[in-house]
Amino acid sequence: MKPGFQLAKDIYWVGKIDNREVPFHRLLLSKGTTYNAYLLKTGKPTIIDTVDMAFGREFAEAVAELIDPLDIQYIIVNHTEPDHSGGLAALASKATNATIVCTEIAVPEIQQMYKLQHRNFLVIKDGDQLDIGGKTLLFKETPYLHTEETMITYCVEDKILFPCDIFSTHVAVEHLFADEAGFDITDDFIGYYQAIIHPHRRYVRTLINAVADLDIEMIAPSHGFAIRHDIAKFIDLYASMSTETKDDKKVAIVYATLKNNTKKMANILKDCFLENQIKVEVWDVDKADETEILNSIASADAVFVGSSTKYADMTGKLEDLLQKMQKMNLEGKLAAAFGSYGWSGEAIEVVQDYLNGTNMEVQSTSGVIKSTGMTHVEFPVRIRFSPTEDEKVKKIKNAAEFVSDLLLSVI
Ligand code: FEO
Repeated sequence: MKPGFQLAKDIYWVGKIDNREVPFHRLLLSKGTTYNAYLLKTGKPTIIDTVDMAFGREFAEAVAELIDPLDIQYIIVNHTEPDHSGGLAALASKATNATIVCTEIAVPEIQQMYKLQHRNFLVIKDGDQLDIGGKTLLFKETPYLHTEETMITYCVEDKILFPCDIFSTHVAVEHLFADEAGFDITDDFIGYYQAIIHPHRRYVRTLINAVADLDIEMIAPSHGFAIRHDIAKFIDLYASMSTETKDDKKVAIVYATLKNNTKKMANILKDCFLENQIKVEVWDVDKADETEILNSIASADAVFVGSSTKYADMTGKLEDLLQKMQKMNLEGKLAAAFGSYGWSGEAIEVVQDYLNGTNMEVQSTSGVIKSTGMTHVEFPVRIRFSPTEDEKVKKIKNAAEFVSDLLLSVI
């Protein structure tokens, strides 16, 4: 397959096949991959996504073989990760009349990654449409699939979905269409989902709603195969893999509180777990019976431990409890620290240290970033003073939703 391969009327593949064992998200892509980009030769010629930055110049030259770059009116950037936006600088330097089309969050990322501060941007909001001269593009925001700024593009007239990372496969395909692969791509499709998309499964549910009202005759993603048969089956795979859940999970939340702010945090966590159909037991360490608390912890699947900070340390009876927890076998449980504070919040860090001294899987911001790339989920959960403002509540909920997804996932 060479750039210029036609997949529909006036729509051409202009991507790059990468046969290397590509290192990607701490995986080695044993079957390589492709970076699928598309040229829509309409009245207002448009490029959808580019290629990995290693092939940027080659990509721009290949596009220039098919169209005068000065005629390109729009460059759609569905997702800014460099395996798709990496050819942007090379292309934009030739396509000087092109407007870059992306979400609001993507604008500063593109400007700073590729020094394109001087270029025209068209900022997309969910549901916006763009007339590209003979075809209409509809955009839907799909945050965190794969990163926060991501959107998908749908060509109304051709009924083709360009979802970038979503519905992809990591295979260095020689034939773009799955039905011409010569084998069933389902295992590759599922493997890609599990490696790349599943950590963001909460957002897949948004995606399923976003595509539910689209009449899709072809999915043209930005890695691997394009799909034009059994489309409902592949979308349903995402729906089922992201929603199938385990039952009967329980979280124990234990806290010590000075001014009830850490207690309020515990209650926000509790409500969020309940919304996710997870049982919750909440304990004030200074009021509840210690044996009951320890039994609750022993039977829980995840344990949240919180403390207010007084004189740079934990309060109440929490330290006694944490010492006993360190002598228990808590293997297989998830754990997280939280707390309200006024100045430095040392107690929350001390709780984290104690949890790290157990054999539980203690959540950390570093661990979240390394496992998912998400930066909006933070552990330990630290809130200054009362958790009343929306931003603080969201921070607490983000943590509870992340742990809920870990507990409920069947994969
Ligand atoms: Fe294919 Fe999120 O990059």
